[in-house]
Amino acid sequence: MTDTSSRRIVVFDTTLRDGEQSPGASMNLQEKLEIAEALVELGVDVIEAGFPIASPGDFEAVRQIAQNVRGSVICGLARCRDDDIDRAWEAVRHAEQPRIHVFLATSAIHREHKLKMTKEDIVRRAVEGVKRAVGYCSNVEFSPEDAARTEIDFLCQVVEAAIAAGATTVNIPDTVGYATPAHMHHVIATLVQRVPNIDKAVISVHCHNDLGMAVANSLAAVEAGAGQVECTINGIGERAGNCSLEEIVMALRTRHDYYRADTRVNTRRLVPTSRLVAGITGIQVQRNKAIVGQNAFAHEAGIHQDGMLKEPRTYEIMRPEDVGWAKSDLVLGKHSGRAALGSRAKAMGYRLTPEQLNAVFEQFKVLADKKKDIYDADIAALIEQQMHVVPDQWTLESYELHSGTGRTPEVTLTVRRGSEVHTTRVSDGDGPIDAVFLAIERLTGIGVVCKDFRVHSVTVGKDAQGEVMVQVEHRGETFRGRGVSTDSVEASALAFLNAINRIAASQPAAQSAPQA
Ligand code: KIV
Ligand code: ZN
Repeated sequence: MTDTSSRRIVVFDTTLRDGEQSPGASMNLQEKLEIAEALVELGVDVIEAGFPIASPGDFEAVRQIAQNVRGSVICGLARCRDDDIDRAWEAVRHAEQPRIHVFLATSAIHREHKLKMTKEDIVRRAVEGVKRAVGYCSNVEFSPEDAARTEIDFLCQVVEAAIAAGATTVNIPDTVGYATPAHMHHVIATLVQRVPNIDKAVISVHCHNDLGMAVANSLAAVEAGAGQVECTINGIGERAGNCSLEEIVMALRTRHDYYRADTRVNTRRLVPTSRLVAGITGIQVQRNKAIVGQNAFAHEAGIHQDGMLKEPRTYEIMRPEDVGWAKSDLVLGKHSGRAALGSRAKAMGYRLTPEQLNAVFEQFKVLADKKKDIYDADIAALIEQQMHVVPDQWTLESYELHSGTGRTPEVTLTVRRGSEVHTTRVSDGDGPIDAVFLAIERLTGIGVVCKDFRVHSVTVGKDAQGEVMVQVEHRGETFRGRGVSTDSVEASALAFLNAINRIAASQPAAQSAPQA
């Protein structure tokens, strides 16, 4: 959709950095690599892979992504401190196209209360930070943190100094989601007008969603001259999240008549990438979320359905297939074969190896015996369960449960690990699910504190599958687990075992010993 008057907007994805700062969204190395590959396939220009000084795990993730992922710029975040910048460079140096992103707060409230620095100190530190990064790498981004609440004259001064020191991108964050579209437009337009060397750098915008305006504010910034937008898949991120990638990309595309701006994003990968990130982080997308929510293209009102049948454009401003929704929610069932399942999975955007397809097909047959109609959401749930199998895992063999009002639940539960089978009987707990969890803890020798437990129905109907998500704490670290079954107690056991397997995979084998 390029025409001669169009501008190219750089899409900077920070799902792996700001997105990972969402409570409970931390990801392991393998998961980060998988998301980074998906982001390249989606066509994002820059991947902010992490904050290397934050922890050895963050460093290693950025380093591995830089070494292995090709096709996008790989960026590491650093404060304006020598050790941060050195560590960020160490992590990104082997990337095909590395970028260092340095930041320093500039607003009065941050200067006075957090940093205890004067305006002069801030300018000096920002310049030193940018210069150190430029010493390593020609692609350097500078962010005046809390820019949206910074005095505009001072913001112009800092931005000018950062560009003079060598920053090739200047990012304007609305760190606390305080701005409005008119405010953001004014800030960017002022920088364009008043910073003499502004044409030497790309202006970027990074909006948080505390007032629900992150996408609107980012669009206003683009209108005023910003050439890069920072965003995350599903809009995840610190507190209320960041500008949602799928929304800003589709707003620019759908209203090209107004914004005259293009991105390099392959919009057909939006829904599959959204599913991947939701599956990995455990942060589910609300049904009515624009573009990637389950209801985004569902028409309920009779008048709308009538219009849709006559001409889809009466009620649809985007085509579902253009954002990656499979063309129709074709129902599969007991008589559907492996090939039908494979082609459905492909249409939904999944790339399954033959082994993965075989494993999913086995689960599909089990499900088809219990459930007449199998929908896309059921297939997605089976695939995601299969794609994130943790090696060397405990699996659920069987359980038998006796419980009722006013009686202590009793469960007999059997798990398998390789060729070993272990059974225990527990008569304890606040209810049947608590008893199942106690039995699993006893069998695996891994004790946890359950922090969150959620059940939701994957599709509609009495025979719908239940999806259970648990979040548990073990030795100060948080682990997630997910399980799907038409039996909600079994789904709970599978989710709990999934979390236990993640814990076992993160520690030496000797630390978890079964107790019958
Ligand atoms: O919100 C923010 O200010 C940030 C910066 C590090 C860019 O995430
Ligand atoms: Zn942020």
